[in-house]
Amino acid sequence: MRLYVNVDHVATVREARGTNEPDPVHAAYSAELGGADGITVHLREDRRHISDRDVRLLAETVRTGMNLELAAADEVLSIAEEIRPMQATLVPERREELTTEGGLNLGAPPVRRATGDAVSRLVAAGIRVSLFIDPDEASVAASKALGAEAIELHTGEYANAVADRDRAREFGRIRNAAELAAGAGLSVHAGHGLTYANVTPVAALEPIEELNIGHSIVSRALTTGMTDAVREMRRLVHGAPSRVREHGSWIPPIGY
Ligand code: PXP
Repeated sequence: MRLYVNVDHVATVREARGTNEPDPVHAAYSAELGGADGITVHLREDRRHISDRDVRLLAETVRTGMNLELAAADEVLSIAEEIRPMQATLVPERREELTTEGGLNLGAPPVRRATGDAVSRLVAAGIRVSLFIDPDEASVAASKALGAEAIELHTGEYANAVADRDRAREFGRIRNAAELAAGAGLSVHAGHGLTYANVTPVAALEPIEELNIGHSIVSRALTTGMTDAVREMRRLVHGAPSRVREHGSWIPPIGY
């Protein structure tokens, strides 16, 4: 299991004042000290947090691997082709959204076409490509057909579920999609809305090999520092399979 730490929201705080601090490049270094297996940033078309400067500096300084999230849009694709991150994750983007609200709608022909073209461009540049999708069978099949090497399952519905029954249903969708994707030869990642309280069941799913976690770690880092925040998430993520074995197949939130 790899823990990729998303440092977008360090840049969000910087942009709140339009100054040069805090710096996501420094945060990425501290996250690596805490045991991050990789650093994730989302270069949005509206540049609301991560900037071109951040991406270029991170490409030079990250020692683990950089996962660049981007939309299937020409301008950001050109930057990815130029800096060649270790991995690119294609995500849907809407200007008015607070954060990415769901997976790519690959059932819609224009989205499917644009995503397919983007996959081809990124693969030709030697970049490993992952597609951020909802945990359903059709999206897994479409991702495979488009030539992605990996998928990232959207865990937002699971994370946002309030009732146990709803959380259990969403967890089941993630588990099924993960097994299906792994069976189809895709690498399986997951992320969005994962916290210290809800990460354990997802991290215990055997087919999942990478988690992308941002907001909860950056929030914790405000009080503990980034290195300790990552160290603690890493401890939870790596301890998850044995916790699930000890306590049964479902662990309630642990109330961090
Ligand atoms: N994965 C993807 C594709 C995302 O867009 C985001 C948010 O930028 C994350 C994971 C991380 O989500 P969170 O900040 O809620 O941990």
